[in-house]
Amino acid sequence: MSEASPWLERWAHLLPANARSLDLACGHGRHTRWLLAHGATVTAIDRDAAALASLPAAVRRIEADIENGPWPLPDDSRFDAVIVTNYLHRPLLLRIAKSVAPGGILLYETFAQGNERFGKPSNPAFLLAPGELLTLADAAGLRVVAYEDGVAALPREACVQRLCAVRPAPGEAAGHVALYELRA
Ligand SMILES: C[S@@+](CC[C@H](N)C(=O)[O-])C[C@H]1O[C@@H](n2cnc3c(N)ncnc32)[C@H](O)[C@@H]1O
Repeated sequence: MSEASPWLERWAHLLPANARSLDLACGHGRHTRWLLAHGATVTAIDRDAAALASLPAAVRRIEADIENGPWPLPDDSRFDAVIVTNYLHRPLLLRIAKSVAPGGILLYETFAQGNERFGKPSNPAFLLAPGELLTLADAAGLRVVAYEDGVAALPREACVQRLCAVRPAPGEAAGHVALYELRA
């Protein structure tokens, strides 16, 4: 899979300019490249050294096992854009969401309960429970812009949950964002 997720494409207009961004569990970096193409600077984290080695030179690469080792960033690290796709490790969820800086955005998309009937992942540890990303946004003080929970047809049939949430900047209490217009 090399193309960016349509969920990211849908919310690209909300990426802050020159966003300092984090692509967590980046794999071979389809979203790292997507972020670079949108003018962001990228910190990419994964435990797969070969995958990290394939990323463009401009990327700050961090090789780390984030489930079995310490969090590889300073505790106060904040990003204007945090991207997580096709990855779930529950103990890290709140830390991830709290990494969104004021004015920043969290785009999260991964498999959800029910996916067992389509194949892998089927381990409950890797499947979001109904509403779990909404609960996360609330716990982290993020404003939910959009949430989906259903069966995606592409790139293959799968149960997924998708979240787009923002942390309002100071003085922007309502945190209203410009919505993507479905029709001109
Ligand atoms: C299914 S891939 C998703 C890659 C990318 N986010 C995407 O959507 O194309 C999951 C990624 O999580 C990484 N990963 C799994 N467990 C990890 C861990 N404990 N620490 C760091 N990365 C991990 C894997 O190396 C792999 O690159």
